[in-house]
Amino acid sequence: MSAEVVYNCGILTLSDKGSRGERDDTSGANLQKIMRAAGFKIMAYEVIPDKLELIADKLTTWADSRGLDIIITTGGTGVSPSDVTPEATAKVIDRELPGISEAMRAASLEITPHAMLSRGKSGIRGTCLIINLPGSKKAAEENIATVMACLPHAIYKIKGGMADCGEHKAD
Ligand code: MTE
Repeated sequence: MSAEVVYNCGILTLSDKGSRGERDDTSGANLQKIMRAAGFKIMAYEVIPDKLELIADKLTTWADSRGLDIIITTGGTGVSPSDVTPEATAKVIDRELPGISEAMRAASLEITPHAMLSRGKSGIRGTCLIINLPGSKKAAEENIATVMACLPHAIYKIKGGMADCGEHKAD
């Protein structure tokens, strides 16, 4: 990321056990470290239960009134009955950005066949990019690594950046 541009990031962990304090949020903690190292400022972080309305409300509040450029969620993308993060995300985004999730699944399939079990979505609400990642520390780290290089340019364009794509130096 270019030195003068610092984008604001929120990390939202979806975990019933984590929200009750019965499990350490190693994935959310690790994502904060990764995003900071990549030049983002962590402006919001929370662990909440796998409840569709709670997740949709939190994403809406964060995207609309916390000045966040990007929200990364971790957890609840799979096929368990409690996994509802993609549904909550679909409810609040204005525009889907499927290429990000497609790229993560494609790269992850080189690592594990279980990658196809993540139903994570990516999309845009207002000027905020929202990306769903799987819940384990390992899976979240592998997935965000796949798309990190495109994030500064994606956010720049979402916020209305006018430079031609070939001329915008975002990293
Ligand atoms: N992607 C990568 N890169 N590495 C992984 O280990 N785990 C998968 C998948 N994606 C995995 C991955 C597994 S086991 C599941 S069940 C789904 O993500 C959904 O995870 P979630 O329910 O924790 O969101």
